[in-house]
Amino acid sequence: FNIVSCFLLGWHSNLSNNNSPDPNGPMYYNGIYHLFYQYNPKAAAWASDIVWGHSVSKDMVNWFCLDVAMAPMDSFDVNGCWSGSATILPGNKPVMLYTGIDINNVQVQNIAVPKNSSDPLLVEWKKLHKNPLILPPNGINATSFRDPTTAWLGKDGYWRILVGSERSNLGTALLFRSKDFMEWTASENNFHSAPDTGIWECPDFFPVSLKGKKGLDTSESGADVKYILKVSVQRTWSDFYTVGAYCLNKDAYVPDNTPGNHYSTTTGLKFDYGKFYASKTFFDEAKNRRILWAWVNESDSAADDFAKGWAGIQAIPRTLWLDRNGKQLLQWPIEELKTLRTNEVKLKKTPLTKGSVFEVQGITAAQADIEVRFRLPSLENAESFDPSWNDAQQLCGRKDATVQGGIGPFGLLTLASKDLDEYTAVFFRVFKAQDKPVVLMCSGGIRSSLKVELDKPSYGAFVDVDLIDGEISLRSLIDHTVVESFGAGGKTCITTRVYPTLAVGMEAHLYAFNNGTETVEIKRLNAWTMQTPNMNLGHEISLAT
Ligand code: FRU
Repeated sequence: FNIVSCFLLGWHSNLSNNNSPDPNGPMYYNGIYHLFYQYNPKAAAWASDIVWGHSVSKDMVNWFCLDVAMAPMDSFDVNGCWSGSATILPGNKPVMLYTGIDINNVQVQNIAVPKNSSDPLLVEWKKLHKNPLILPPNGINATSFRDPTTAWLGKDGYWRILVGSERSNLGTALLFRSKDFMEWTASENNFHSAPDTGIWECPDFFPVSLKGKKGLDTSESGADVKYILKVSVQRTWSDFYTVGAYCLNKDAYVPDNTPGNHYSTTTGLKFDYGKFYASKTFFDEAKNRRILWAWVNESDSAADDFAKGWAGIQAIPRTLWLDRNGKQLLQWPIEELKTLRTNEVKLKKTPLTKGSVFEVQGITAAQADIEVRFRLPSLENAESFDPSWNDAQQLCGRKDATVQGGIGPFGLLTLASKDLDEYTAVFFRVFKAQDKPVVLMCSGGIRSSLKVELDKPSYGAFVDVDLIDGEISLRSLIDHTVVESFGAGGKTCITTRVYPTLAVGMEAHLYAFNNGTETVEIKRLNAWTMQTPNMNLGHEISLAT
């Protein structure tokens, strides 16, 4: 059911795809959701002269494929139409800013507008003669200047955008200002930069409310607002973000001084601790929420991708909002996904004693949505946490699901073969520590496939919860080769790509397990088979109805 799959999962379509489907210019316009994406029509691999694919939807679940929206054709983008973002200008006028690779292989920022604004699907896009709008400023490498953000409008009447870059060994977001969206001037101030990251790709900058889950328009400001700066760090293929304050007068962003609020490899906050890159949000005014899109890469070989004829998928869109503690974001799959749920299976108050493996029967385990709430025993017999263990992924590799603990590992064995020769474990392990318990969440691992020549990391992250109510929740979306998991109501998210050889189709099983010495209870579990949505059908199926 993984959506937007014409260029995505193979069982939905046979269209080929590149290996870098960054989501581009997501927006809601006149009742329709648009998603553009980096697309290589020629092969299931990335190529510089990439184009913008385009799909539309009324619910972000069922999708329709449109013609390519932009292709490299002009001097300012002849070598590639790279990533960019949508802004809806006053008067309900959508515009796209994107990076063109120009005739000299310089990265420049361009603008495109709908050719015919009365076309409800905005199929054709027109690049303006004014292009290129922005050239790399002095001191910026011509090949390190890309991925303009959605613009925001300050109270001073100036539009602002960020462009990802690198300067003096610092990853940086360069800010540009404009009155008319055509003439752009580089800010003299440093908006924000950080060491040890390499170039920042696909920056995303947006306000979040300190009160509740409601999303904010990108230009919104005010007292109850914090800001998020997300950057994609190719060195580790990670989307890091920080929560901070933004001063419009200075056009500077300062991350709050809280733990993990930085772009550092082992301890920085990430949208997702698995495969999840080049993400981008947009404000959905239809439902007042901010939606997150991201590219989920393959972890098989290039040869496998050529054989499949496609590579790379989009994550299920997520709603995101600021945690009540103001220190991190929470994410949850869009509510529309529930329309695919069928054949619900329920469990209540089921103890998972030491070593138990309990099959959840009655659903199609290869295409499922599972929500489970665990009740934990007292932490007395939990393992002790060594404060030097700051690399959660490493810890998940060392203490995988087979390594017995006190409280946990417990969780789900997804995409499991009958005899458990293959499974993708998604689980928690709870440690005793000085101030409050440490909760580790892991997903993936060597057991996910018997196939050897695959990248099979055990992804991991800590979940910032105090467990005061003695409970923790887990939701997993399972779709044949993808497992997207949300720990503790969306505090920690991990997406894995796995390629089982036995646990395929109807041979896939789902188990709940506990490999800790202490009994953990499934307080409740709800699981559904997920139906396959309409995926990138032709647009003759009218959206206008
Ligand atoms: C991120 C990225 C962007 C660039 C695009 C090119 O995956 O490298 O920085 O615009 O892909 O396809």
